[in-house]
Amino acid sequence: MHVIGGTASTALAERISRELGNAPFGIPFTKRFSDGELYLRVGGRLEGDDVVIVQSTRTDQDLLELLLLEDAVREAGARRTFVVVPYFAYARQDRRFFPGEPVSARALSHHVELDADAVITVDLHSTQTLSHFHKPAFEASGIPALARLLRERTVDILVSPDKGGVDRVRRMAQLLDRPWFALDKRRIDSEHVELAFPSTGTLPIQGKHVVLIDDVITTGGTIVEAARLLKRHGAGAVSAACTHGLFLRDAFERIKAVTDEIYSTDTLGNPAEKASVAPDIAQILAREFTT
Ligand code: R5P
Repeated sequence: MHVIGGTASTALAERISRELGNAPFGIPFTKRFSDGELYLRVGGRLEGDDVVIVQSTRTDQDLLELLLLEDAVREAGARRTFVVVPYFAYARQDRRFFPGEPVSARALSHHVELDADAVITVDLHSTQTLSHFHKPAFEASGIPALARLLRERTVDILVSPDKGGVDRVRRMAQLLDRPWFALDKRRIDSEHVELAFPSTGTLPIQGKHVVLIDDVITTGGTIVEAARLLKRHGAGAVSAACTHGLFLRDAFERIKAVTDEIYSTDTLGNPAEKASVAPDIAQILAREFTT
């Protein structure tokens, strides 16, 4: 099995290749034509071999690079192509909210799987996106990677900033054998949220080290408000852990100002990237495709 790391996921791709027993690893040669178009070329002897392409789609350019990589790998004569998209963009638009809109998650799924034999992603915005694929599609979780890291830290209580994250925080709580609860969140607009303790009551947090667990940090609005609320109510320390650290604009600095530590997995390059999903992705590849 060969592993090719797209420019958005080079480090993670290399980690996956190591997890696969030092599978041959390469990165494409890329350059921009004067009109801005992307040129790329994959090296190595891929003919008749299985190839894993790893490329998150943080930007539209990353997506285009992924599609070109898939075509290049097919042209190189690969036996099977497994496409790993650690951060799968456009997944929030997983249905048509208003007439005239696309189901963006479906549109991307169709294009990404076109030249793939299977697709692997991590913590999709909604698992429903998996139903848009016609080829085998797998969703790894970022929770085991974060749990491996948090096991070495002081953690008293785990908190989800919203009810949508209950399954996630519960899974983390099971892995770390710690109590948990979820806050009530009301989104005011894309950057602002209101958070409150649930009316059903919570665990005492005075002096405790509380770790917020989320799937994605984008503007940071959710984590900043959650950390402030927890500290106002006496938490001794508040850390934030997420699978996908997008950290738009000054999000990282704003979160840093109100938390004690920030943890993210390596699905996207960012300053909080401290846990790797490579073992979890390699495990799926080895389990499903090493025949
Ligand atoms: C919401 O459903 C998600 O789990 C995240 O809490 C949210 O997307 C984070 O966004 P932001 O960082 O912009 O508040």
